[in-house]
Amino acid sequence: MYVQEENSVYLSISDISKTFQQDKNPPLSVFHDINIAIQQGEFVSLLGPSGCGKSTLLSIIAGLSRPSTGKILLENKAITAPGPDKSMVFQESALFPWMTVNENVTFPLRKKMNKKERAQSAASYLKMVHLSKFADHYPHELSGGMQQRVSIARALAMNAKLLLMDEPFGALDEQTRIILQEELERIWLETEKTIIFVTHSIREAIKLSDRVIIMGARPGTVISDFKVDLPRPRLQQDMAELEEEVLKILKVEIDKVMKEELQYAGSD
Ligand SMILES: Nc1ncnc2c1ncn2[C@@H]1O[C@H](COP(=O)(O)OP(=O)(O)OP(=O)(O)O)[C@@H](O)[C@H]1O
Ligand SMILES: [Mg+2]
Repeated sequence: MYVQEENSVYLSISDISKTFQQDKNPPLSVFHDINIAIQQGEFVSLLGPSGCGKSTLLSIIAGLSRPSTGKILLENKAITAPGPDKSMVFQESALFPWMTVNENVTFPLRKKMNKKERAQSAASYLKMVHLSKFADHYPHELSGGMQQRVSIARALAMNAKLLLMDEPFGALDEQTRIILQEELERIWLETEKTIIFVTHSIREAIKLSDRVIIMGARPGTVISDFKVDLPRPRLQQDMAELEEEVLKILKVEIDKVMKEELQYAGSD
């Protein structure tokens, strides 16, 4: 287990829970007793079975949603709204359909940069995600994976200190995924960014993160917090042991979800 020093906490998540009220069904408790302390500059991955609340937790950190109970502080200030200090890549790409690729990437920069700086920044990040040729296209003219790459370029161009990424590479082909993992690692190493990265890929989590946090099946909480102490760039053979260990823990939680699904299907 990872022990955090109190005095260096950048993002402090204390005892938070989230319950959704539902019209026809009883309230849905998604997670409870979540306690996570993150230092500035850390790269933290979040793993857990589908439905355990990873996206919900990320949207609370982004300030898009409020926890039902508990406290969440960024640099000792309560998070109450989205802001330029945090940028988010959503699980589903969230582009403005009426704007071109270039306009989508430059739009959030309009208050921070002049026109020339915006154009330069957008061009460099679109190049990174291999979409320079599509700068003047509209989102509907791109595939799902390409749209996701535009969302990644937009989030990186915003250059926020805290980057929240919800399965950002999930919809990409293997080659592109590997290229973007390397680019993200490079950007993170060159900057002081703190990254919280949700993924279903154990390998991706271990390859990129300082810490891998595992959430249990709903209503979940943090069940493991691994420090990944391997030299970078990480090699497959060095990661294998930890991969095995994480898989074992995750499998128990995924089995719980499967069993619940089967019971539910059987009760029809
Ligand atoms: N706005 C909402 N209103 C009601 N229930 C919601 C809402 N948002 C999420 N949920 C429910 O909360 C639970 C957690 O959802 P969430 O999207 O956070 O899971 P996840 O861990 O990100 O899953 P996945 O790995 O499939 O993306 C799910 O049961 C979902 O149906
Ligand atoms: Mg999700």
